[in-house]
Amino acid sequence: MFVKIAGTGSFLPERVVDNFEIARKVDTSDEWIQTRTGIRTRHIATDETVAGMAAKAAERALENAGISPEEIDLIIVSTVSAEQSLPCIACDVQKALGAKRAAAFDVNSACSGFITGYQAAAAQIKAGLVKTALVIGSECLSNYVDWTDRGTCILFGDGAGAAILKADCAPEDIQIPCVLHADGSLGEALTCSLGHGKHKVPFDEYYRMDGKAIFKFAVRKVPEVIREVLKMSGHTADEIDFFVLHQANKRIIDAIAKRLRQDESKFPMNIMDNGNISSACIPMLLDDMNRKGILKPGTKLVLAGFGAGLTWGGFYLEW
Ligand code: UT7
Repeated sequence: MFVKIAGTGSFLPERVVDNFEIARKVDTSDEWIQTRTGIRTRHIATDETVAGMAAKAAERALENAGISPEEIDLIIVSTVSAEQSLPCIACDVQKALGAKRAAAFDVNSACSGFITGYQAAAAQIKAGLVKTALVIGSECLSNYVDWTDRGTCILFGDGAGAAILKADCAPEDIQIPCVLHADGSLGEALTCSLGHGKHKVPFDEYYRMDGKAIFKFAVRKVPEVIREVLKMSGHTADEIDFFVLHQANKRIIDAIAKRLRQDESKFPMNIMDNGNISSACIPMLLDDMNRKGILKPGTKLVLAGFGAGLTWGGFYLEW
């Protein structure tokens, strides 16, 4: 028995920026961006904030799950792009929802953040500490994008995705087929300084990325972690209906599908419309699939993410 997702929700800012608009700012083209990444458009926040988008996605997830804010025991928000360091975004969400009973904290493991949040919440549910948890990925990556750097500004977008976690069995019967990894020695592949502090870090205040290094890392490590998750859950790749992966680059996802010898149709994507929204990608994609009726009771999923840190991880989920 597993910790289930009882409801999902997402939020995208209204403003859509297409590749042609980006090509007016930096030396790139719609053709280059589409062939190298799969991205056509991304949503960019105007008035929206990380906390505001998180709260809107959460309201939709609560409605989808048919539960009230008072039933939430725990709120975890994953973000790397907040406007504030205090209070944490999860406390802002708690206030906005009126989820008075909920404990609240943020996590930062970048694009693996939804996996980290799921594991932390599921472990608390298994320990009997909480019954109902809300896990959100919310990102306003445009806060930290250098719009003169064509290596990064073509990729990122803004948005939020949320999921309600609940167990449908006694805590002692819960299994958590979830694996998290990190390799801090590769951290310089994706950096951003907050610009404050007595001891200045050797990074600047925008996202700086060695795209090639992360590309190679993802294509190697994500299939490995998926195999670990499959082993833990006792399934083969063929038995999985969908692999819901972090949306960093369509070519990365295609390469992972090939390595796992699985048909590309088992790898849903929203990168074409949304770009890479770090920790929001996976819950937003899940919400898309949920609302389109693709996820039926018993549908078998493996979710996996990778990103700055470097971090990577995955978990098995039955709908
Ligand atoms: O969310 C997790 C963190 N991020 C990622 O996972 C990103 C992973 N990496 C990637 O998605 C890809 O590495 C990028 C999309 C960032 C870059 O694609 P690439 O195929 O690895 O391109 P590249 O860096 O090898 O560059 C190939 C060529 C270079 O020109 P030369 O040296 O061959 O003449 C670049 O200067 O493409 C050039 N280039 C561009 N041209 C037009 C690099 N960026 C652009 C651009 N437009 N935006």
